[in-house]
Amino acid sequence: MAVYASFRSIGAYVPEKILSNSDLEKMVDTTDEWIVKRTGIKERHIADEHISTSDMGAMAARVAIERSGLDKSDIDLIICATVTPDYFNMPSTACIISDKIGISNVQAFDISAACSGFVYSLTIAKAFIESGMKKNVLIVGAEKFSSIVDYTDRSTCILFGDGAGAAVISATTNKSEAFVDIHASADGSYADFLVTPAPGSVHPANQKMLDEKLNFVQMKGNETFKLAVKTLTKDVVDILKNNNIKPSEIKHFIPHQANYRIIKAVGDALGMKDEQVVLTVQKYGNTSAASIPMAINDIYESGRLKEGELMLLDTFGGGLTWASALIPFAPKAK
Ligand SMILES: CC(C)(COP(=O)(O)OP(=O)(O)OC[C@H]1O[C@@H](n2cnc3c(N)ncnc32)[C@H](O)[C@@H]1OP(=O)(O)O)[C@@H](O)C(=O)NCCC(=O)NCCS
Repeated sequence: MAVYASFRSIGAYVPEKILSNSDLEKMVDTTDEWIVKRTGIKERHIADEHISTSDMGAMAARVAIERSGLDKSDIDLIICATVTPDYFNMPSTACIISDKIGISNVQAFDISAACSGFVYSLTIAKAFIESGMKKNVLIVGAEKFSSIVDYTDRSTCILFGDGAGAAVISATTNKSEAFVDIHASADGSYADFLVTPAPGSVHPANQKMLDEKLNFVQMKGNETFKLAVKTLTKDVVDILKNNNIKPSEIKHFIPHQANYRIIKAVGDALGMKDEQVVLTVQKYGNTSAASIPMAINDIYESGRLKEGELMLLDTFGGGLTWASALIPFAPKAK
């Protein structure tokens, strides 16, 4: 009998501390008005110094496992998507999360696809499950983005926040619960649009790295913006067309939360109504790989996400990478 991947549960962790636009006005030459007008962001959450990416990922993972109705011993693969791992580059943050949540002796690894990391992880979970290799995959998108942000650079520090989201993806034989479609891609010729130059083999950690602030994220904001609108729109138009689904049939359009203007442009191009578009960018900012699962968790916790409803995910990030997915919510725990 054919086996399919299904989206079984969601969880998230949002750090308590808030960094508001008025806080940023005191740190760099910016205004609340400029930030809201250009990005839609009003505030973002920042993890305390002693909290790591794996701490947030583990907290989100516990919630997702609890809501899945499974025992943690049922999880047979752990994937963590992050560009702010606990350590550059070993051990992986997934290994540390597995230890923190008390799951041992299962395969665990990180993937690096920046803001597209969560949807990339969904493609991997699907492949493992539908090949019969795994049954219940825990995927985590977790970022302590504040650890790579230069809080003297007004062009980037206003955008990003910290947080984590997690999901359990399970095998099912019920086709109506299965992922409808998923697609991920990349174009490395735009690698310099969004980059943390060091530490790495190109620029190992040294005094020059500190002097030139190469350990902080650098972004070609305007170029990234234009490419994001173009790529995100094409990606969702294609996935809907390939599956013969009209935008009006989508219950929840959940785009990567980078900038309200990007989300609005893509939503408008598809003719989406406001109530179809999930928005969290105003309160979380851009949390990279955590952005989509945190947004799914938001509609789950507010009672908007119900069994069987179709989600359209659409994401874009450093690499450049992009991905989209058509997935029904298929909770089995009652
Ligand atoms: C970063 C971003 C908000 C900047 O908005 P923009 O409309 O493109 O603005 P520009 O970069 O062209 O800058 C316009 C002006 O605002 C200034 N500016 C930049 N940041 C500012 C800030 N925080 N406050 C006030 N002014 C600012 C610039 O210095 C520039 O001034 P100038 O015209 O005197 O040179 C926008 O480009 C963006 O969101 N890009 C995509 C980022 C993204 O999504 N990245 C992650 C992808 S996963």
